[in-house]
Amino acid sequence: MKGLVLAGGYGTRLRPLTFTGNKHMIPVANQPILFYSLKQLARAGIRDVALVLGPLHETIQETVRDGSAFGLRVSYVHQGDPRGLAHAVLCAREFLGDDPFVMYLGDNLLQEGLERFVDLYQREHPSAVVGVTPVSQPSHYGIIELDGEAIVSIEEKPAHPRSNLALIGVYLFGPDIHPVVADLKPSRRGELEITEAIWKLVRSGHRVLPHPVRGWWKDTGRPEDLLEANELVLTTMPSEAFAHHGTVSREASLTGLVGIGQGTVIENDVEISGPVVIGAGAHIAAGSRIGPSTALGDGVVLHGAEVRRSIVLEGSHITGPVRIVDSLIGRNVEIRCGSQSPQDLRVTLGDAARVQL
Ligand code: G1P
Repeated sequence: MKGLVLAGGYGTRLRPLTFTGNKHMIPVANQPILFYSLKQLARAGIRDVALVLGPLHETIQETVRDGSAFGLRVSYVHQGDPRGLAHAVLCAREFLGDDPFVMYLGDNLLQEGLERFVDLYQREHPSAVVGVTPVSQPSHYGIIELDGEAIVSIEEKPAHPRSNLALIGVYLFGPDIHPVVADLKPSRRGELEITEAIWKLVRSGHRVLPHPVRGWWKDTGRPEDLLEANELVLTTMPSEAFAHHGTVSREASLTGLVGIGQGTVIENDVEISGPVVIGAGAHIAAGSRIGPSTALGDGVVLHGAEVRRSIVLEGSHITGPVRIVDSLIGRNVEIRCGSQSPQDLRVTLGDAARVQL
């Protein structure tokens, strides 16, 4: 079995959010989103993985390299202009051969691993297994309508959804998918839709098994999704993942699960309420308050600031009595606040932004 991880500019989901580099490299709980899928593939025993890259692929190849750090053999497929999820399958045709493969949208996060997907495929040998889960805004997703186990309809982002069961961005295909994909025409949004290919498999009598996933699933298409994903990952991460390095003042108060990276200094009169992760080389000065559900990257500096339910990327400095909540703050951002602001600050700031309050 092989793995195909899509990290190109496919679909409408790639909005670079003014962050430099590819959005799949934005960290959630201080790890690039993309790493979660690679780790799950490795854990499910899959070794050969192709990463499909689009025009915005900066830093992915340089970071993941040959995949050995993940226990994988990673190769790269350059999709060129992204023309849909099924187009990525077409581009990877040579790599995939006739092997079954897990296709994982690299900006999706799935709490449970891939083991149950793979087991189901190996037990039943269907043409496809599609992960499904109920959602509250079905018109944003591919939607599947079931009658018991039987698939009644599958539609991409229907205006009038016939169910609330979404196709998540994790699929398992056998070789039957290839002729269908090769025969697709671009959809209304100009893409080769994997959803349409799956529906065609069903219509032509192939077995497609819906696979209800357990636990949470998150597609990180928008800043608010990233914050929610950060919270979900932090609150469900095993306690051993919260390593404790750095120097913590005895007069700092840490409650709940808190991860602290190498060389990080936590001064006195700091309150941290987990779950929180702080990268390496950060400096949290007296009077600062952090958490819950917050991830601060390497080298972040807080001077008397409060940060709740937020992601702050590496090298950013926040100074002064400001209370930041539900915010996504890029790399090397500087926020300065002279006097106590009466309101919470809720912001999405791209890399290197400067804010004076
Ligand atoms: C894609 C699929 C859609 C699926 C979604 C899951 O949508 O086309 O069927 O429900 O991923 O994240 P996109 O985000 O590319 O528009």
